[in-house]
Amino acid sequence: MELVFIQILVLFALNTDANSQREAQDSIMMRYIESRVISLEDRLYKCEQVLHHYDYELKGLSHRLISRLEEQSKHRADVKREVENLLARIERAEWDIDYLETASPSNTCVEMDEQLVETQLESAEEEKRKILQKLNTSCTIMVAQIKSQKTVKRSGGAIGSWIRNAGNSSERLYFFSGPNGDTLLEFANMEEFTSRDYLEKARNISLMYSWQGTGQAVHENFLFFHKNATLNEIVKYDLGRENVTETVELSGAGSIPPYQLSPFTYIDLAFDEQGLWSMHGDVSNGGNIVLTKINYQTMVMEHAWNTSCQSANAEAAFVICGTLYVVYNTASGGRSHIDCIYDTSGIITDKMPTLYFLRRYSSHASVKYNPIDQALYAWDEGYQTVYRLDTRAKYEHP
Ligand SMILES: *[C@@H]1O[C@H](CO)[C@@H](O)[C@H](O)[C@H]1NC(C)=O
Ligand SMILES: *[C@@H]1O[C@H](CO)[C@@H](O)[C@H](O)[C@H]1NC(C)=O
Ligand SMILES: *[C@@H]1O[C@H](CO)[C@@H](O)[C@H](O)[C@H]1NC(C)=O
Ligand SMILES: *[C@@H]1O[C@H](CO)[C@@H](O)[C@H](O)[C@H]1NC(C)=O
Ligand SMILES: *[C@@H]1O[C@H](CO)[C@@H](O)[C@H](O)[C@H]1NC(C)=O
Ligand SMILES: *[C@@H]1O[C@H](CO)[C@@H](O)[C@H](O)[C@H]1NC(C)=O
Repeated sequence: MELVFIQILVLFALNTDANSQREAQDSIMMRYIESRVISLEDRLYKCEQVLHHYDYELKGLSHRLISRLEEQSKHRADVKREVENLLARIERAEWDIDYLETASPSNTCVEMDEQLVETQLESAEEEKRKILQKLNTSCTIMVAQIKSQKTVKRSGGAIGSWIRNAGNSSERLYFFSGPNGDTLLEFANMEEFTSRDYLEKARNISLMYSWQGTGQAVHENFLFFHKNATLNEIVKYDLGRENVTETVELSGAGSIPPYQLSPFTYIDLAFDEQGLWSMHGDVSNGGNIVLTKINYQTMVMEHAWNTSCQSANAEAAFVICGTLYVVYNTASGGRSHIDCIYDTSGIITDKMPTLYFLRRYSSHASVKYNPIDQALYAWDEGYQTVYRLDTRAKYEHP
């Protein structure tokens, strides 16, 4: 039980990328693994019944640590030392197993082992929680499946986007029709948007700069968009004061679209539980999607990830709890499906099974996640559709 959990954690540590954030996580993981090795060492002396099993598991563990050690050249020396230290401890434990195997067996630990398993089941949950806190990934949901869909309206042409405010102080909706424009409509809530005389209820906002593509995002009073006819300028616009707050360049973006099936969008912006993200295409990254975390208050680009998700046949993408989900389709419109995910927290490393959208034929010009109601707001050939999701914890494998 415990070993399996340790192995998951070791795999987690082994699969993370070599960058400074990950190094800090690595050292937390190392410390955690070390504490688990200590408890293992204790138990090794008590329970010879399971020694064969432990022996096998420990060999696997040390094998992985050795291969990790080879990669460690990129990492800081102290992390390397910790791994070496752990390796020595595991070797010692293996020697102890050999010794205990030849020593005379006794049955005294059988009952105790059962008790241990009980308490460990409980503590494993507690430990998971603590690790997540340490790694600052308290937001750990992922999409399990697309549960339902509801087409709420038909308005506008094939290209556009609509979003719900990503802040929690209002349920406002924002409507952007066309591949570019300098106006948008704001609705107080879903009821007003779906009402018959919705245009009369809308607030028609004219911007001083025009937007391009379907990459808009709104958080509380601020609208974020790719400024029309610029390579990669992102505008932060104050919808309350009707003024531009800041304009920043997203360097590297603008040369190719992130989603080849939605070539009108060069920079997609998205809010999740952790804040603002941008997605763009990059030729130097093999055309794969580059994900950037932007501080939406200061507009500083905090970190960028060269994801493994291709832009070929992609039509849209969204971010949930720091994980990018890319929606793929065919050029003629087919069944949209999520076929690539990229988790910046490094928890999901396995390839996920393909997740299908419910409609047989669709063509999404945009798919926007709202972290407040955890739904997707999609623009499907001029139909405004809401998808509800089933989620699960990133740690629970299917
Ligand atoms: C966790 O991350 C959030 C943003 O992702 C940050 O505001 C917060 O300070 C972090 N907490 C800790 C304890 O590092
Ligand atoms: C809204 O979000 C802010 C910051 O995330 C939080 O402090 C506040 O409690 C939330 N308010 C409601 C009503 O959920
Ligand atoms: C956006 O820029 C294009 C040129 O790149 C121009 O043709 C179009 O009229 C602009 N749209 C708006 C709304 O300004
Ligand atoms: C919003 O206002 C602009 C000009 O101010 C106008 O061209 C546009 O038709 C208006 N949109 C709606 C839906 O009323
Ligand atoms: C908008 O901002 C600019 C520069 O920050 C300022 O000169 C202008 O007066 C502001 N306009 C309004 C309506 O607040
Ligand atoms: C992404 O890949 C490109 C090309 O290989 C490289 O120049 C860039 O530094 C990489 N960015 C990150 C954040 O790893």
